[in-house]
Amino acid sequence: MTDSNARTLEGLTYFQRTFGCQMNENDAERVAGLLDMAGCLPVSTLEEADIAIYLTCCVREAADIRLMGQVASMKNIPPAHKGLPRIVAVGGCIGQRDGARLQETLPNVDIVFGTHNIGHLPSLIQQRISSGMAVAETLESSEEFVKGLPERRATSWHAWVPIMTGCNNFCTYCIVPYVRGRETSRPLEDIENELDHLAAEGVQEVTLLGQNVNSYGRDLYGRPRFKEVLDYAGSCGIPRIRFVTSHPKDLSTETIAAMAAHEAIMPQLHLPLQSGSDRILAEMHRVYTVEKYLETVHMLREAIPDISLSTDIIVGFPGETEEDFQGTLKVVREVGYGQAFTFIYSKREGTPAAEIVDTTPAEVIQDRFDRLVELVQESVHRENEKELNKTLPVLVEGVSKRDAHMFSGKSPKNQTVHAPIPAGLTMDDLVGTIQNVRIDVTKTWYLQGTLVE
Ligand code: SAH
Ligand code: SF4
Ligand code: F3S
Repeated sequence: MTDSNARTLEGLTYFQRTFGCQMNENDAERVAGLLDMAGCLPVSTLEEADIAIYLTCCVREAADIRLMGQVASMKNIPPAHKGLPRIVAVGGCIGQRDGARLQETLPNVDIVFGTHNIGHLPSLIQQRISSGMAVAETLESSEEFVKGLPERRATSWHAWVPIMTGCNNFCTYCIVPYVRGRETSRPLEDIENELDHLAAEGVQEVTLLGQNVNSYGRDLYGRPRFKEVLDYAGSCGIPRIRFVTSHPKDLSTETIAAMAAHEAIMPQLHLPLQSGSDRILAEMHRVYTVEKYLETVHMLREAIPDISLSTDIIVGFPGETEEDFQGTLKVVREVGYGQAFTFIYSKREGTPAAEIVDTTPAEVIQDRFDRLVELVQESVHRENEKELNKTLPVLVEGVSKRDAHMFSGKSPKNQTVHAPIPAGLTMDDLVGTIQNVRIDVTKTWYLQGTLVE
C-alpha cells in the first residue's frame, strides 16, 4: 500500500501532531517512515512545515474541540516557504469518522485520510499539489492487517508492535469500533519476525498493541492465541515486554500464567474497570460484573504478587446514581491501582449510549469526578510508597523535565523515576539503557532515587 510516485515530495518539510491512544502513536511512526522515504524532512515546529499532519482522536468531545481550534488557528501562521502554501492533512479517527465532511467545517483542511489508508498519504499529498483541490479519502475497512509500511520509530530503545487492530466489543459509549473497524489480527509469524528483528537491533522495550489484545487471533485462527504471542515475546531476548489493552472479560488464566512465567513481561497490567456498578457495567455492555472483575484481580495477584494495576474509569455515564458511583469508589479502594485514567462521560453521536436521556446536573458529575481523582491519587501515592528503599531497574528515557541535572525513566511497574546524572556520565551513555536506581523519595507522580551499581 505504499507509493511509487511519491518522489516529487522531495525536500518538503513536515510536522506531525498526534492525539489519542498508542494506535495513533504507532501510526505516526508509519507516517514518518513513509514521508522520509518520499524524501520529506521532519521539522519540530509548525512554522517550519510545508505539510502539517494531524493524527486525531474522537474518543471524547474535548478531543474534537481541540483539533478544531488548532487547525482553524493555523490560517494565521505564514507559510514556511514563500509562495508554498502550507498543506494541512487530517487523519486518524476524526478523519475516518468525518471524511470530506470535515472540510465543510474546517475549509483550510487540504487532505482528509482515515485509519485504513495511511499508506496512501504520500499520493494524496501529491494529488493535492498537482490538482490544487482539496482531497478526502477514507476506506471502509482494511481487508487484512496492514503490513509492509516503513516506520521511523520515535526512539531507538522502544517499539510498538501492533498485533491486531479494531474492536468487536461495542461498549455502548465508545466510538472506537466505528473508526477502527472490526478486530483484525496480524499473523503470528509476522509478529514473531518483527520481535526477532527488534531483539537483534537491541530494542529494550516492546509494547504489544491492540484495542483488545486478549482476543488476539480469534478472527484469524478461530481461537485466541495471545498466550502464544506472550510466550514468544517473553523469550525473544527483549528485556521488557508490555501490552495494552486487556478487556477484563477476555483475560484468561493461560494469559495470566504466561505473564507469570516470563521475567521479561513487566509486572504491570492495564485493566479498564469503567465502572464499579453492575447495573452501569451492563448498560455499558462490558459483559463482566464487579465480582468477576475482582476475581480476575485476585487471580492476577495470586500469580504475580507484586503486580501493579492501572485502569480507565468513566464518571457520569447516563443514569449513574450516587450509589453506582459509590460502587466505583469501593472498587478503587479495594484494588489499589498504581495508575488510573479518569474520564467524564462524553456523548459520542452514533453510539447507543448517546440515545439515553440523562438529567444528572453537570456539577454533580464534576463533584463525583473530583472525589474519584482524589481517591485515585491517594491510591497511587500509597502504591508508590511501597517502592521506598528498593533498588529498581529503570529504563532511562531522557533528561528529567523537572531538573536538567537528572535523568528520568520508567520502573518495571511503569512508574516515572528521576535520579541525578552521576559525574562522569552523559545522557548519551544513559538513554535507552537499564540502570539500577535506589528509591529515596516517593511522590504521587514520581519516584526519585540514586543510581547504584
Ligand atoms: N480499547 C481500550 C481503549 C478505549 S478508549 C479499552 O477498551 O480500554 C480509552 C478509554 O477512553 C476507555 O477505556 C474509556 O475509559 C474512555 N472512553 C471511551 N469512550 C468514552 C466516552 N464516550 N466518554 C468518556 N470516556 C470514554
Ligand atoms: Fe471501546 Fe470497549 Fe472496544 Fe475498548 S473494548 S475500544 S472501550 S468498544
Ligand atoms: Fe482515540 Fe482513535 Fe485511539 S478514537 S483512543 S485515537 S483508536
